[in-house]
Amino acid sequence: MNAAENGMDIDTGTDAATDMEALRERASASLTTARARTTLLTTCVEDPELIAQHSPLMSPLVWDLAHIGNQEELWLLRAVGGREAMRPEIDGLYDAFEHPRAERPSLPLLPPAEARQYAAEVRGRALDLLQAADFHGTGLTDAGFAFGMIAQHEQQHDETMLITHQLRKGPQALTAPDPEPASPFRGPAEVLVPGGPFTMGTSTEPWALDNERPAHPRQVAPFWIDTTPVTNASYQAFIEDGGYGTERWWSPEGWAHIRRHAITAPLFWHRDGGQWLRRRFGVTETVPPDEPVLHVCWYEADAYARWAGRRLPTETEWEKAARHDPATGRSRRYPWGDADPAPEHANLGQRHLRPAPAGSYPAGESPLGVRQLIGDVWEWTASDFLPYPGFTAFPYKEYSEVFFGPEYKVLRGGSFAVDPVACRGTFRNWDYPIRRQIFSGFRTARSETD
Ligand code: AVJ
Ligand code: FE
Repeated sequence: MNAAENGMDIDTGTDAATDMEALRERASASLTTARARTTLLTTCVEDPELIAQHSPLMSPLVWDLAHIGNQEELWLLRAVGGREAMRPEIDGLYDAFEHPRAERPSLPLLPPAEARQYAAEVRGRALDLLQAADFHGTGLTDAGFAFGMIAQHEQQHDETMLITHQLRKGPQALTAPDPEPASPFRGPAEVLVPGGPFTMGTSTEPWALDNERPAHPRQVAPFWIDTTPVTNASYQAFIEDGGYGTERWWSPEGWAHIRRHAITAPLFWHRDGGQWLRRRFGVTETVPPDEPVLHVCWYEADAYARWAGRRLPTETEWEKAARHDPATGRSRRYPWGDADPAPEHANLGQRHLRPAPAGSYPAGESPLGVRQLIGDVWEWTASDFLPYPGFTAFPYKEYSEVFFGPEYKVLRGGSFAVDPVACRGTFRNWDYPIRRQIFSGFRTARSETD
């Protein structure tokens, strides 16, 4: 454990038993919040729409619903509670590694009513177990880890289901208020993050997943980083400058990819006369210039950065910008400090169905003045998804370990579709560099010496 990490491991005199009761409350509330969202996402369209496959990239919504219940049964009722399988014959159907997404619509899946019933039955038993569980144990039950992991898992699939809704053709099924209009951001375009040591990852955050662990020191050279994510207006300047037709801005793989698939703009964009329009959850609208660009792949982010004379930040740089407090040298939980995310800090939790304008959320900025590191859009980094020194798979290799390697790039910070329970300064997401149906954007950086 590293005492410099965030101070939570320093004895503050609070009673450990009280902390565990607070975590039990948080687990219960997080499971309930996740289920309300799952219910919204699976009742806002008619049942035939739950069974349909809206994109070969995605599962039918009814698969996600029963998979959520099945993972909860596996990890809470069976692994923690020692119960027998409720429906052993369905385990294979909902094992993500047995059937690729494209194949899932042809499986004998539980129909919507049965899937709802199954998930609800599992939940009832899981909440009983939560009240009885010993949070002072080791392994899965230590600090209620398994309950926190399952709440995060459900929220991750809720984001996946929201992506399915975005890909779905047809009229609008979801609505949410827009973010507050922001006053124009007057800060500098970039700030210098000082070089020197920094503690990356965590050994103290109770529900951090295996790939965020352990806390470990990193040396970082000084670098400049954008104070906001790259906006649609800036990205349009790249397009208007012929960015998609200029090979030198692209990596060889990126250039081959955009040529083969005739990609000339972010996903869901099209040009109408002189202006760019986009489709967002069933509605066509003008692309808002001040909003962070959304639905770009890693290759597009990488090419834009080169065009701008910059580069993507490494994952280590991103985390230092988000967590390092220059006044104390500590790594904190979030850019704004150690407090859990509140609505004034970040655009999280599907409160809105879009990113907020660049420069929003002054209360969420880092000590150096970097905004919107958390929430709004997932941010592509330059880095491959690799284990930290001292990594151990927990509780299963298929969460992180089987994905480590150069084929996946790391995304950081979370989007408007990420719930606070699944979002931290240490949280790591990953995807293929061609993916852009995800809620992905980016910011750029440069070395101090450039
Ligand atoms: C961490 C978002 C890449 O959705 O593939 C869900 C999360 N793992 N069920 C994914 C996950 C198992 C994962 N990502
Ligand atoms: Fe899953």
